[in-house]
Amino acid sequence: MGRVAIVTGGTRGIGEAICKRLQRQGHTVVANYAGNEEKARAFTAQTGIPAYRWDVGDHEATMAGCAQVAADHGPVDIVVNNAGITRDGTLHKMSFDDWNDVMRINLGGCFNMAKATFPGMRERGWGRIVNIGSINGQAGQYGQVNYAAAKSGIHGFTKALAQEGAKFGVTVNAIAPGYIDTDMVAAVPPAVLEKIVAKIPVGRLGQAEEIARGVAFLTSENGGFMTGSTMSINGGQHMY
Ligand code: CAA
Repeated sequence: MGRVAIVTGGTRGIGEAICKRLQRQGHTVVANYAGNEEKARAFTAQTGIPAYRWDVGDHEATMAGCAQVAADHGPVDIVVNNAGITRDGTLHKMSFDDWNDVMRINLGGCFNMAKATFPGMRERGWGRIVNIGSINGQAGQYGQVNYAAAKSGIHGFTKALAQEGAKFGVTVNAIAPGYIDTDMVAAVPPAVLEKIVAKIPVGRLGQAEEIARGVAFLTSENGGFMTGSTMSINGGQHMY
């Protein structure tokens, strides 16, 4: 059965692969994006998936954006909180803004999206929320106190909201990707990235589609008994 799905940060990288996969599953998919107009237009032209612009770290903008999506397409039953940024740096060089932006967008975005969509799912008795965490939220990462804290927060947020949604047919799960071949990972200095890849047992970066397949399962009818879990998709880099 096709449902309405929103994927935040959906026009690029992992989010783009998730949008395409959910569309192939027969859902009405909407991508959210924050700023890259050119890429969003190209994405919509290629996929036919509409892209709505708002900052998921902005509470009011997220409430308004989700209300607009529901008015245009119908009640939102599937949310994939994928939007995220990095502002890497060791603590002694990290500014408060670097900390705050990452917490506001990566973790605050999950809260804002849930505030906008979870009550409706609860009322209708069905919903799927998938939060994209990270291996670095599980294991920590040098130069990422902000990102690791936000992603680790996502894993706690997931387990708490899962308990609230369970009796209403709303599952809430997380996926913790390892290092995936995206623009975000390409921004890691090559010498550092080389050392990271050397520690991945399967010997390569992951592909965005490999995360999208996990999302497809968690958002399907078959995923109904799985809630509050974290699916680690990381090539064996961190066995949790
Ligand atoms: N463990 C211990 N020491 C480390 C280290 C590590 N993992 N990484 C770097 N260091 C050390 C270096 O060896 C160096 O020591 P010396 O000065 O004694 O040689 C010192 O730290 C400074 O390192 P840099 O020269 O790299 O310092 P910098 O200030 O230029 O950069 C940094 C620091 C920004 C953290 C940079 O190392 C970096 O970008 N690292 C990658 C961080 C990372 O993995 N980010 C993931 C982004 S992708 C993502 O987040 C997606 C996801 O979910 C997986």
